Amino acid sequence: MTAEYKVQGDVAVITLNNPPVNGLGYDTRLGITNALEKANGDPAVKAIVLTGAGKAFSGGADIREFNDASRAMREPNLNSVIAALENSRKPVVAAIHSVCMGGGLELALGAHYRIAAPGTKVALPEVKLGLIPGAGGTQRLPRVLGVETALNIIVSGEAINSEMLAGLPGQKLFDQLAATPEALLDEAVSLAQKVAAQHADGAPLPLVRNLPCSHPNAEAYFQFARNMVKGMAKNFPAPAKCVDAVEYATKLRFDDGMAKEREIFVNLMQTPECKALRHIFMAERAASKIPDVGSDVKPRDVKTVGVIGAGTMGGGIAMNFLNAGVPVTILETKQEALDRGVATIRKNYEAQVKKGKLKQDKYEQRMALLKTTLSYDDLKDADLIIEAVFEELGVKEAVFTQLDKVAKPGAILASNTSTLDVDKIAAFTQRPQDVVGMHFFSPANVMKLLEVVRGKATAKDVLATVMGVAKKIKKTAVVSGVCDGFIGNRMIEQYSRQAGFLLDEGATPQQVDKAIEKFGFAMGPFRMGDLAGNDIGWAIRKRRAVEKPGMKYSATADKLCELGRFGQKTGAGWYDYQPGKRDAIPSEVVTKLIEDHRKALGITPRKISDKEIVERLVFSLVNEGAHILEDGIASKAGDIDMVYLTGYGFPIWRGGPMQYADQVGLFSVAEAMKRFAQNPNDDAAFWEPAPLIKKLVAQGKTFN
Ligand code: NAI
Repeated sequence: MTAEYKVQGDVAVITLNNPPVNGLGYDTRLGITNALEKANGDPAVKAIVLTGAGKAFSGGADIREFNDASRAMREPNLNSVIAALENSRKPVVAAIHSVCMGGGLELALGAHYRIAAPGTKVALPEVKLGLIPGAGGTQRLPRVLGVETALNIIVSGEAINSEMLAGLPGQKLFDQLAATPEALLDEAVSLAQKVAAQHADGAPLPLVRNLPCSHPNAEAYFQFARNMVKGMAKNFPAPAKCVDAVEYATKLRFDDGMAKEREIFVNLMQTPECKALRHIFMAERAASKIPDVGSDVKPRDVKTVGVIGAGTMGGGIAMNFLNAGVPVTILETKQEALDRGVATIRKNYEAQVKKGKLKQDKYEQRMALLKTTLSYDDLKDADLIIEAVFEELGVKEAVFTQLDKVAKPGAILASNTSTLDVDKIAAFTQRPQDVVGMHFFSPANVMKLLEVVRGKATAKDVLATVMGVAKKIKKTAVVSGVCDGFIGNRMIEQYSRQAGFLLDEGATPQQVDKAIEKFGFAMGPFRMGDLAGNDIGWAIRKRRAVEKPGMKYSATADKLCELGRFGQKTGAGWYDYQPGKRDAIPSEVVTKLIEDHRKALGITPRKISDKEIVERLVFSLVNEGAHILEDGIASKAGDIDMVYLTGYGFPIWRGGPMQYADQVGLFSVAEAMKRFAQNPNDDAAFWEPAPLIKKLVAQGKTFN
């Protein structure tokens, strides 16, 4: 049973016990209704307290029932449990503490009385999953907190502290605030005894559903709320639906409002946005789990970190650890480079202090954790050493040979390489099992994504440690096997090739950028190239020319680089830039360059639709993603989606490239690929649908 039953004097105490957060899965729900029945049938029991064991009252829906609507709705479903609370003949006091969210809060709203411990986090976070609360939250919360406060909570999905809510004038959410979390249960039992005495004559028990719900200026207020929400959440339908649902609470009888809430909830469940958000929720959790690294693998201790190289990446990487309170020693070859690196870190922190995002004393505490050195000896005690030196195998060899000599046994040696072979780097040491790739994204102190590159010798406990470290520094870590470009850059190379072909065939950089930005990407490929530096792609193409001679690609980008148009850093790239500004201005030089190249290829330009642009760019990611899965570079499609959502600005509401392909339908995706393969100006071989896609189509299955 996941709800415990105990009688304390004349009060029955029902304690939810479904770790980690007392999710309201089927067994727990059944446990509650059984316990309620027992308490109501026991003449010695006068009142009931409902509380949660461990670190939550209840966090709401059970994740295990997340994508299983039939189990989530299995009777007793949450609405039936709430009805059982309301119908209890003996008063029920919900004793809330720690976490009271989603279905947990809706459950508490079904009780006759509520007492909260200080510090309880109260929220209805359903909107973050593209939903509205589905068990009365939109109908009951406005009745106890007023329309405006309730709608703010429902639309934002953010948690609010119980003290804050208890202090609101006229609030009816809490009948009492306990003095301390420790005193909660005793106070709840006393309250239960008190109200039992008050209702001993059989007087009706108070129900939230019977409270009035109105707003003095409803029409204007809901119009205002709709406008606000529209501006903030244009790609997500749920926030506007929260407004609708709360408005129904003010207009309809309680049961009719409940029916409307259910209708909206069920419709939202079917939207691609909701499916995408739920997918992301699950994929993020799943990414941290490595199939063959179980919870029995004990991670190593990481108390101190060394960083080699204080350049663009090294500085940002160091900041992640300083932010998390972990001491860092940065090593460079020259004092000037160290000074420059530290000055950049300071500048970053000072900007945060200026914006009010960081307190001065916190800034100083963080800087106090930073040491600099020119000597490898100072890294001998580091538990984790991350290398971020120049991207040349020879330089990496020198660094790892040195590290192998000085690092203590068991220290983890990581490389931030973005293109080099982690197995080769590992082979520079006598301890390849301790070597791993930690591929941060720029700016490393900001970007959420961390690709953890698993070498063929990387030990399981090294992987477990790095995944734990990633969590500590608030990164989304995704494991990748060793291959050129790992997951993210291997896919983006195909996307960039498509962008090039589109120019050759008649599109302009601005048309391509606009089309994919309208689809939802944060930035189109050409604006992105100008930001990151077009010389990076140039270097990769030069390498490819040696490795894969004859591989088809558009040479327009090479011609751009030959003009020194590397992007924002040189004041010109695919676009022109005014000094000190980042606005991309269409360039006549580039237009002519593209046209000349097109002529040289003998291509007659054609009008390319935005639809074709988006399909070719996105499906190129999908096809390469499928190959990545086949090659075992990524262990699941959700990992690929997480890489694109957290590292490449893929639109959140589409759930990542693989999830998007699932939504489009893999049959249609494969058909489009076959169509693109007919285009003489494209690469027919690339557009052969990956065997995995063919297999999934044949089986009627999806990636996720
Ligand atoms: P950078 O040129 O800004 O910094 C490299 C730093 O390493 C310089 O400060 C240099 O003085 C130092 N250095 C060079 N050789 C050294 C040695 N033997 N010992 C100690 N320090 C040495 O380069 P960046 O951009 O920070 O890149 C570093 C690494 O990170 C490369 O492997 C790169 O591929 C990778 N990377 C870069 C990304 C980016 O967007 N810049 C993104 C992800 C990875």
